Amino acid sequence: MHTKRFLSVAGAILLSANAFAVPRGELLASTCMSCHGPGGKSRGEIPNLAGLDKAFIVKSMQEFKSGTRASSVMKRHASGYTEAEYELMGEYLSKLKK
Ligand code: HEC
Repeated sequence: MHTKRFLSVAGAILLSANAFAVPRGELLASTCMSCHGPGGKSRGEIPNLAGLDKAFIVKSMQEFKSGTRASSVMKRHASGYTEAEYELMGEYLSKLKK
């Protein structure tokens, strides 16, 4: 009961953050960080995203989606977003410090 109430409040906060406070590019890119590292700075084998060229990020996402560029997991990730969302993510990620 309390949990349910908390979740609906949290949901409402998230929704309003989406619409007003957290820039959409940042929100979209937050799902990428679990693999690409906090702040887009990868420490492992998965490529770094922080500070990459926006055009390169957008192009990579398009190529992953279409399959022009081979990938293990990125085709699945790229397929979940629109062109406009690639632009927003690319804009945000390109501005992160390397
Ligand atoms: C499940 C882990 C995972 C998630 C989540 C993930 N990626 Fe990736 N990403 C990879 C891997 C692994 C590669 C290397 C290509 C491949 O094998 O798919 C990659 C490659 C890339 C590249 C190419 C980088 C380069 O230097 O060539 C870009 C750009 C990229 N990802 C963007 C994103 C964005 C934007 C998101 C969030 C929407 C995201 N990724 C989410 C694992 C992930």
